[in-house]
Amino acid sequence: MGNEIVLQVRNLKTHFFSGSQVIKAVDGVDFDLRKGQTIGIVGESGSGKSVTSLSIMRLVDPTAGKVVDGQILLHGDDLLQKSEESMRKIRGNKISMIFQEPMTSLNPVFSVGEQIAEAYRIHEKLPRKQAWAKAIEMLKLVGIPSPEKRAKQEPHELSGGMRQRV
Ligand SMILES: Nc1ncnc2c1ncn2[C@@H]1O[C@H](COP(=O)(O)OP(=O)(O)O)[C@@H](O)[C@H]1O
Ligand SMILES: [Mg+2]
Repeated sequence: MGNEIVLQVRNLKTHFFSGSQVIKAVDGVDFDLRKGQTIGIVGESGSGKSVTSLSIMRLVDPTAGKVVDGQILLHGDDLLQKSEESMRKIRGNKISMIFQEPMTSLNPVFSVGEQIAEAYRIHEKLPRKQAWAKAIEMLKLVGIPSPEKRAKQEPHELSGGMRQRV
């Protein structure tokens, strides 16, 4: 078990602005995540769990709010200082987010296999056939039965739990 720190969140503050009102959704969050560790963030609805996660992904809607203070160090490198282009390379590659409602992040008209394969084509530059094989391997890894058949189906043909695993 390595004890190397992968992610350090320091004094994270994400605020939303509506008129003259400031909503301090996240106001000074600190935690460390070590290699191989799983952390659960627990709190009542509206306490800032999603906004914390979206801030780490740099996906807070810029028209509504922003990270106003803190550091998000991934292997010591501050994600808050990255360009949008560098973030696109990091997202879905080094960090990713499984959204609460998978129907809004999956494209309804493409098979789930194509959508998983797309990440391999873009991030790892794999050719179509290899990317497809990877998609099936991943479906198998998360315990989806008949992955070859499931990969060809569209999101609405899968259960909610299966869609989140996708
Ligand atoms: N786009 C937004 N505009 C204004 N306020 C927001 C926005 N997104 C989230 N918030 C506010 O941030 C707070 C934390 O929300 P959230 O992180 O979604 O809570 P939860 O812990 O349930 O995931 C809430 O008070 C919510 O109203
Ligand atoms: Mg939430």
